[in-house]
Amino acid sequence: MHLNDLPTPQVLIDQPRLFANIDRAQQLATSAGVALRPHAKTHKSPVVAKWQIEKGAVGICCAKLGEVEAFVDAGMESVNIRLPYPVNPFNAARLIALMDRATLSIIVDHLDVARGWSDEMRRAGRALDVLVKVDVGFHRCGIDPAGDALGFLQAVAAMPGLRLRGLLSHAGHGYHAASDDELRSVAAREAETLTALRDRATKAGIGLDEMSVGATPTLRFSAGLPGITELRPGNYVYFDRTQVALGAATLDDCALTVLATVVSKPAADRIILDCGSKTLTNDQARGITKAAGYGAVLVGDGGSPRRVDETLTIERLSEEHATVRVTGRTPLQPGDRVRVLPNHSCVVSNLVDAVRLMEDDRVIDTLPVAARGRIQ
Ligand SMILES: Cc1ncc(COP(=O)(O)O)c(C=O)c1O
Repeated sequence: MHLNDLPTPQVLIDQPRLFANIDRAQQLATSAGVALRPHAKTHKSPVVAKWQIEKGAVGICCAKLGEVEAFVDAGMESVNIRLPYPVNPFNAARLIALMDRATLSIIVDHLDVARGWSDEMRRAGRALDVLVKVDVGFHRCGIDPAGDALGFLQAVAAMPGLRLRGLLSHAGHGYHAASDDELRSVAAREAETLTALRDRATKAGIGLDEMSVGATPTLRFSAGLPGITELRPGNYVYFDRTQVALGAATLDDCALTVLATVVSKPAADRIILDCGSKTLTNDQARGITKAAGYGAVLVGDGGSPRRVDETLTIERLSEEHATVRVTGRTPLQPGDRVRVLPNHSCVVSNLVDAVRLMEDDRVIDTLPVAARGRIQ
């Protein structure tokens, strides 16, 4: 099928770009001698996860148990799945059921929660692998490394039913870095923070085998830093407008785009596309990415557009309308099609049942987004 035969809006994945992204990150990890464990929240597709694993990934990450259930139900039973998310013991029955079907690990960053998991595992006669999440500057989840972090590790290490495997962090503040130098120093400080804590733990008799970091903006600077054993990027499979602005990708690396149709041209300086917030989401460009609008309209050859049309700004979204301001003149008329590079690809793929796999301007397959909407 040709691109032009698809109803719109459609989420398209350029397969050669996707494969190149998978290969590049794997080579980075392999040459640094560390494990790659992609975060599957970006694609939510067992097929893409399988490709990542075939290329050398040690397993995947999921954010929620519902995602894990979708991946395991799709046949990924032998896969090692990590949830770098503070899963609450309220979900113990589901997690224990999954432990029969996959190899799982979770994170903890609160003693009551860790005790809750310990109690559940003891009752079930099980042992759960846990990593302690450390706050390396994002200030979302994680124990404070400047607080009694060693005391926390000692307490978790002593809890029956839990096997303390290591430390884990997510440098989400890298999304606000203004330059490569800043990103390099975010990555360096993350590694130093984890290494210092691991060394204190070792002296106190607690062996920590793993030091897991993961975020796409810092990926290229984290690989090879001392102490790190695992990289967990997610967004890198598709990339998006935010990653281009952060220098983590070029336009030619971006695998996910939205195919949209011009449905109205109410004025010379305004066109309307059929991709609203139910397709592009209301995500603004993040961090330093102050570029206006809800995505970039691309121009170039049909299959793989290569340039941003700077005369078009997606300045407003309604649910099913994108209002595009035109600077100067545009030849676009109702019925014409455009490609949009979203600000944030992970949230866009979560909104569709399936994405279309493309090679140039041909649809070569349809990939179900099996774990879409699995947020519980
Ligand atoms: C805990 C954790 N690990 C890894 C990732 C992957 O980061 P990115 O989306 O920058 O690739 C995320 C992203 O939200 C995360 O929250």
